[in-house]
Amino acid sequence: MVSRVIPVETFDLVIFGGTGDLARRKILPGLFRRFRVGQMPEEARIIAAARGDMDRAAFQAMVRDALIEFVEPEARSSEMIEGFLNHLDYASVDAMGESGWDTLRGKLRDGKIRAFYFSVAPSLFGAIAERLKTYGLANEDSRIVVEKPFGRDLESAKILNKGLAEYFDESQIYRIDHYLGKETVQNLMAVRFGNILFEPLWNAQYIDHVQITVAETVGVGGRGSYYDKSGAMRDMVQNHIMQLLCLTAMEPPARFEPDAVRDEKLKVIRALDPVTVQDVVRGQYQETSDLAGYLEDSENPDSNTESFVAMKLEIANWRWQGTPFYIRTGKRLRARMSEIVIRFREIPHSIFGADSGSKANELSIRLQPNEGMDLRVTIKEPGPGGMRLVDVPLDMTFAKVLGPDADDVPDAYERLIMDVIRGNQTLFMRGDEVEAAWAWTDPIISAWEEADKRPAPYDSGSSGPEEALALMHRDNRRWKEIRS
Ligand code: BG6
Repeated sequence: MVSRVIPVETFDLVIFGGTGDLARRKILPGLFRRFRVGQMPEEARIIAAARGDMDRAAFQAMVRDALIEFVEPEARSSEMIEGFLNHLDYASVDAMGESGWDTLRGKLRDGKIRAFYFSVAPSLFGAIAERLKTYGLANEDSRIVVEKPFGRDLESAKILNKGLAEYFDESQIYRIDHYLGKETVQNLMAVRFGNILFEPLWNAQYIDHVQITVAETVGVGGRGSYYDKSGAMRDMVQNHIMQLLCLTAMEPPARFEPDAVRDEKLKVIRALDPVTVQDVVRGQYQETSDLAGYLEDSENPDSNTESFVAMKLEIANWRWQGTPFYIRTGKRLRARMSEIVIRFREIPHSIFGADSGSKANELSIRLQPNEGMDLRVTIKEPGPGGMRLVDVPLDMTFAKVLGPDADDVPDAYERLIMDVIRGNQTLFMRGDEVEAAWAWTDPIISAWEEADKRPAPYDSGSSGPEEALALMHRDNRRWKEIRS
């Protein structure tokens, strides 16, 4: 397989918060990788806009350090880094005030694609959007990119959407959910809609249940003050898990085009049944002999914030009535594992006898690590002695079937930023989707706040609270083991 790099048009990309953590860790290293593979046009410019009193040279020095820290050594050379730094510029701008905007405008060129990346707190979105217009930096072709968290409930999300809509058309707004930029997430659509095999079976008649797991080993140390106000529900479920659920459950869009895909995702969110208390588990990791607990990491000794959520969801439509979706996500779990498991129903009748060993088929779509898929199918165990059946994986680990190029796929951020430059919104969330996701999430969070109960404890390094296992046991089902 040969990687194909399709060049993009020349652009001016302004990153508000361009000296911040996300820019250093993800956005700039991502752009560097696109530069390395030759996708960045020679005249492309990346301008960091931030409050600090830096100059261009100081910003370049900062980015040089960031690239050394966050780009794998084999993917960079000093020559390459210096080449990339030539694309960079810096402007000192006060997002809430009036200084620096004219200088920034002076750095933008006519006739080039203009994109403004808001890598800043959502409270600044409105102020920046307004100034982009009043100082004449943005025109009707410009794009703005906004990061999560996009609000903390329906009301705040509506305010953000309204604030942006005053100055920008929806077709100019790119709301990032970096899970949509992951290779395997797009592969989920390729598998569903690029094969004849799966779609006829992709419904309640043939699928027993679906499991979506996003397990992390990291704790919240270092970002406790953000996380404590957010929790797993706002940080992971309302956005990343919701997007995975939508892509798994949606009807086939007529085309792989932004509104066609987003219309279908929206219908899934709107079809979600409200969740009842007994179908939700909240957890919080506890200290073990070698790992800190949430309360130590969060610096709030009384925090009731959940670092784990498991839920049973029902989608009330013809396709899914009777097929539950079990989701779970948590920090400080046994392994880093993100996976969607489609568990098919048992065969209706075994001609080989009930104890022959026939198992239900299972399709696992692994987002990380070991990106790929496997489909478990039943075959005959080799050798004489009758029809004993065993299930074996049809293994589609990308690194195995696609060769070394599979390791070289763009990371979520680089792909998404290039989509912004190309003007392709398919992998970005539309305003109504975000609002619908909050509308579904809000009552669950309010019920927790009212109940004011401590989350169920689980040991750091475990699979989560016992209650999460019970959520499936009670339906005679089991979670797939969390392991890397
Ligand atoms: C972020 C969350 O959006 O996604 C983090 O704020 C989380 O809490 C991260 O760790 C997970 O992303 P990934 O790509 O590492 O799975």
